[in-house]
Amino acid sequence: MKEWTRDERYRALSGPEDIRDLYERTQTSAYRQLYHVQPITGLSSDPNGFALHKGVWHLCYQWCPWGAVHGLKYWYHVTSPDLVHWQNAGIGLAPDCFYDNRGAHSGSGISRGDDLVFFYTGNHRDEDWTRTPYTCAAKLGPDNRPVKLDKPLFGPRDDHSEHQRDPKVVWNAADQTYYIFIGAQTLDKRGCVMVYRSKELLSGWEYAGELRVPGYESFGGMWECPYIVNISGHDVLIFSPQYTKLPGRGESTNHNVYLIGRMDYDALTFTPQGDYHYLDYGFDFYAAQGAASIGDPDKAILIAWIGLPDNHYPTAEEDADWEGSLSLPRELRVKDGRLLQTPIPAVRALREAEVPADGTLPAACELEIDCPDGDFDLNLFTRPDGSGGLRLHYDSTRRVCAVDRSGMDLRFNQQVGEALEMPLESGLRTLDIFIDRSSCEIFANDGEATFTTHAYPTAREFHYTASEGVKLHIFPMSRSVTDEFVL
Ligand code: FRU
Repeated sequence: MKEWTRDERYRALSGPEDIRDLYERTQTSAYRQLYHVQPITGLSSDPNGFALHKGVWHLCYQWCPWGAVHGLKYWYHVTSPDLVHWQNAGIGLAPDCFYDNRGAHSGSGISRGDDLVFFYTGNHRDEDWTRTPYTCAAKLGPDNRPVKLDKPLFGPRDDHSEHQRDPKVVWNAADQTYYIFIGAQTLDKRGCVMVYRSKELLSGWEYAGELRVPGYESFGGMWECPYIVNISGHDVLIFSPQYTKLPGRGESTNHNVYLIGRMDYDALTFTPQGDYHYLDYGFDFYAAQGAASIGDPDKAILIAWIGLPDNHYPTAEEDADWEGSLSLPRELRVKDGRLLQTPIPAVRALREAEVPADGTLPAACELEIDCPDGDFDLNLFTRPDGSGGLRLHYDSTRRVCAVDRSGMDLRFNQQVGEALEMPLESGLRTLDIFIDRSSCEIFANDGEATFTTHAYPTAREFHYTASEGVKLHIFPMSRSVTDEFVL
């Protein structure tokens, strides 16, 4: 993989010509996605500013234009009428002022009347590379481009470490107050959330305190990208704890978890009811964010980065190195103290006519699967002789579906482990699997559990094998991302 100097990683774009050639070369990659949002060049990571505004879905992603490297981050903006067909809208936020001189880092959006307002972290660094994170805002302008406010809403506090970022703004109708949840780290390096409040969206912000989450006072070293939502009367807190290993997660130190409980804004306490759960059991799922302002109290719409910090992917080795993708948006509901996660129904529109289940796999497809009773195997992306591949094995005694990606030609991130398990409360009955050219998202039992992973099949790996009794329906999927060069 290319070695990057700091200057190369943190170079600012001066105009489209800087990356037009890189874009053209990136387009030749066999792993460009057909129906997932992906970087126009370089690297995409967290979803940002996800909101429904005046009938249009706005979404941005953390973007480093230059290659598969985490350097100077922009927000790149895409829009959609239906959460399925996405168009590139150009740079959302550029790191071009004092407060964000080393990156426009993650954040959220909210639609209020005529305004779509974005909140983000201005990642300022001085010459000694000392970081000062500012909480900044921008408003969508008439030309569909966000316009930044001149000054940050607030700076960091010195009673927490320099890790204070990823503002998630929420409106709490009960006390007619806006809140901002900030992912943070205490001075003794424990992950937490800092909370600010204001009666106005763009002024009057004051620090309310650190969110108490009883039982989670020492759970990882930093909580990135907090997101809170109420679904059918249940409060759901989602965050990405890092710098810790968690049971069943291999050697990875980056995770995405959720708690269901009760949020008391007066006492600034989130009281979990029950244990934490993994949002997704796969290798590559992080920094998930829900869409704001969807206007339905019984569900949330969530999207995540298919990828992890500190990990790299095979497309980083291509001539025009690039990596990353966003997940399919998914609907969240609460059922029996757990989240139920289902693909957004509109994705159905991408299905083409069913093809025979003859042992070959289209490069972009949906697999609808009825599982047999008892143990079974399903091996995706095998070679013509059935060897290798992404191997799923269901153990009906343990009620666990094991997924092993070590058999594929292109192996990556072996340091975090190549096998993980997805437990099912009541046995595995159905699988709905979305394969795009470099990703695979598995929804088990209509959303009881999910498993997301990157997968980079080589030309000989578009086959599958399945145990007797596994009933597959295969639907090729059509393209829904335009992937045009818009800056
Ligand atoms: C999560 C994260 C955020 C930060 C952003 C920078 O992946 O580290 O905490 O704002 O990425 O790109």
